[in-house]
Amino acid sequence: MMQIPSATRKSGYGRGPQTPNAALTEVGPGTPGGEYLRRYWHPVALSSEAERAPRRVRVLGENLVIYRDGGGRVGLLHERCAHRGTSLYYGKTTDNGIRCCYHGWLFDAEGHCLEQPCEPGGGAHRDKVTQPWYPVQERYGLVFAYLGPIDCMPPLPRFDTFENPAPGGQIWPERDTAASCFLDSAVSIDVVPYNYFQYWENILDTYHVKILHNTFTDVAQFPGVLALDFRVEWELLSDGVLAHSYRDVDGRVLHRISQCTLPNIVAIGDLDGRAGNARRLNWIVPVDDVGWISFGISRGKQQWNDSDAVALTPDGKTWSQMSESERQRYPGDFEAQSSQGKITLHSEEHLGRSDKGVIMLRRLVLKQIAAMREGGAPVRLGDGDEALVRVRGGGFYDDAASPPSE
Ligand code: FES
Ligand SMILES: [Fe+2]
Repeated sequence: MMQIPSATRKSGYGRGPQTPNAALTEVGPGTPGGEYLRRYWHPVALSSEAERAPRRVRVLGENLVIYRDGGGRVGLLHERCAHRGTSLYYGKTTDNGIRCCYHGWLFDAEGHCLEQPCEPGGGAHRDKVTQPWYPVQERYGLVFAYLGPIDCMPPLPRFDTFENPAPGGQIWPERDTAASCFLDSAVSIDVVPYNYFQYWENILDTYHVKILHNTFTDVAQFPGVLALDFRVEWELLSDGVLAHSYRDVDGRVLHRISQCTLPNIVAIGDLDGRAGNARRLNWIVPVDDVGWISFGISRGKQQWNDSDAVALTPDGKTWSQMSESERQRYPGDFEAQSSQGKITLHSEEHLGRSDKGVIMLRRLVLKQIAAMREGGAPVRLGDGDEALVRVRGGGFYDDAASPPSE
């Protein structure tokens, strides 16, 4: 029998334009969001990946190549040769730069054109040519790049959790793209195919742990303490937002802090509730508006490894082992976030109180963009000349905290 719809109930017809909030999602040069991101350092490669053979890097919507010259200096140049556009990916590194394969122009890491072998006198006017380039610095085993205006370049931050490692401890850099999103390092993917902000703000979306990871599929996707019920509070910092969650573990309060730091850094509280601040940071680096990669740094006696054993199905399958219909029945972070769209539609959202952390983070970013629009600068990371950043993310037993039920 045909059901007659209620005349007072609006259907899906006649909706207005459905749009993302561009300031939060655009990363390209000249966009408000892209210019804000360009005021910070971003990891673009492992130090070990910067070798004599050039490697392609796509970041913030720009196509670049990274290489290490014979003198050990890392260069990050636009991929298109300033002469007539051949890719420097096919170039050859020299003692002091990279030589384009087509006509042999040689560029150093600051874009100086050192040689033009086909031009009269080896290029009498070669100093008029600059290959677009970006400053880089190596730290903690990663290559960080700054893609913004040189006169606004902040110091490259240090992070307290990685300074002075404990005896026997080390710093472990990693390319972490698959593990970040799929919790499964067996996944073979170069770029996660949706906007970086959807993953980044998820770190403060504490309630999805309760539903997506612990209730919806009748499987506790995160075993141990994370399967327990919790209370959450969010805290606004000048350069980030913290999510404090509290769980009752055998009569003690486990206090877990997840931290988002501008512009794309996350410190996820340790899963095992061990004491201390986070042993790992991740950068969610935009490749362009619709993709991201992740680099991580961890400290400890061995490489961080939470990515191999997270089972998403009742019979213990990890993401890479699941069929499409299993992913439908046992969705994880990738399904939840990628299905929001390549760029989510903020105009269509209905935010609630449980979205408070996400709202705080978005407002903090929009505040930085507004400051830039008024001629100011976004907040700098870290204190002092060393730009030392305090990492508060982590998990610990907090006898001063009130129980989760209060
Ligand atoms: S295109 Fe690179 S040297 Fe001519
Ligand atoms: Fe999640």
